[in-house]
Amino acid sequence: MSGFFTHEFFVDPYPTYEELRGEPVRWEEELEGWVLTGYAEVAAALADPRVSRGGGPQDGDLLRRLLTRMMLFTDPPDHTRLRGLANRAFTPSRVEALRPRIAAIVDEQLAEVDEGEWDLIEGLAYPLPVMVIAEILSLPSADRALFRRWSDDVIAVAAGVGDDPERRERALRSAHALADYFAALVAELKAHPNDTLLSGLVEAETEGTRLTGEELLANAILLLMNGHETTTFAIGNGVLALLEHGEQRARLRDEPSLIPVAVEEILRYDGSVQMRGVSAGDDLAFDGTEIRAGETLWLAIGATGRDPRQFPEPTYFDIGRSPNRHLQFGLGPHFCLGAALARAEIQTALAGLLAGFRRIELATHEIRWHEIAVFRGPKAVPLALRR
Ligand code: HEM
Repeated sequence: MSGFFTHEFFVDPYPTYEELRGEPVRWEEELEGWVLTGYAEVAAALADPRVSRGGGPQDGDLLRRLLTRMMLFTDPPDHTRLRGLANRAFTPSRVEALRPRIAAIVDEQLAEVDEGEWDLIEGLAYPLPVMVIAEILSLPSADRALFRRWSDDVIAVAAGVGDDPERRERALRSAHALADYFAALVAELKAHPNDTLLSGLVEAETEGTRLTGEELLANAILLLMNGHETTTFAIGNGVLALLEHGEQRARLRDEPSLIPVAVEEILRYDGSVQMRGVSAGDDLAFDGTEIRAGETLWLAIGATGRDPRQFPEPTYFDIGRSPNRHLQFGLGPHFCLGAALARAEIQTALAGLLAGFRRIELATHEIRWHEIAVFRGPKAVPLALRR
């Protein structure tokens, strides 16, 4: 079997998934855990209350205390309480209300394009979600570069496989910097509440013991982290898929009303989330394979989009595909809190590009991919654009 997390895997993980498909639940020595590649098995594991996301004891240094308090890494009853508070602040109407602002950011970013080579990632796919989440969290735009670095450091540890002491040390320093930064912001919001999501969470903290100061901080950082890379990569992967499939791109130009459906196909076909590491909270069985309490499960969400038992002709990229119940946003109680926001951002980015440019071409023959265990996305997507 081709290895996981090799250079070839990061360039194209799908042949490896294909090889694994015959054994949808399989022990992988290299990852010291079970790898689940089948749609049915991954869906069952995502929604199973016996599957744990908890990261062990909630004490230790600040980095550990923050990571174990993020809702993404908690189980009930903590998860239920944290998620309930976040749901209250992150309502669908709040996301809908952001659409005009998202469109304005896309327009501003695209207005800067001149006719020459332009990198989609640096020019749009990265700044868009970061600017949106920064506004939701009331972070001043002048400090964007600072919190980009801090949150990247923390993400590197949260998303990494294995333990690199130097990377951890850097993440700890950045966690302290983020903590100080948010502490000042929270004090300001306590004195002058506004209608942002962070202010909503601050209120929940102020109301009593339902949200502690460290939980508030941890989940604000979680939003900042989750709020960007995944969406950046989805925009990058999506534009690449459209460029590789000229007939589908032409169809989308002719029928822009297909954009929301096309975004789901992009997520299924080449999603930004590839793996989710969880553990068995109890003895489990998937596809007849027994898994012992405490063992690690790698849910290969990226593989599930190409499972022929779920999707007819899975290697065919069809922007009109329906139904399309991909697992990119997960399933069950941890279903992505930001799914509606991410969808709005990806849809608006694609709509802006297609409406703004008559010709969109790739200006390179070689795409370099990030080599991150759990995500998939291009480092740069150089484009030649014509209005
Ligand atoms: C294309 C973009 C995105 C993808 C593919 C994605 C994917 C996911 C997935 C698979 C999960 C569930 C993990 C699990 O079951 O353990 C998740 C959870 C989460 N996502 Fe997203 N996400 C995206 C964008 C966003 C955005 C924009 C935000 C916030 C602004 C966000 C915030 C969250 C949060 C807070 C959770 C934790 C929910 C919980 O534990 O209850 N995500 N996301």
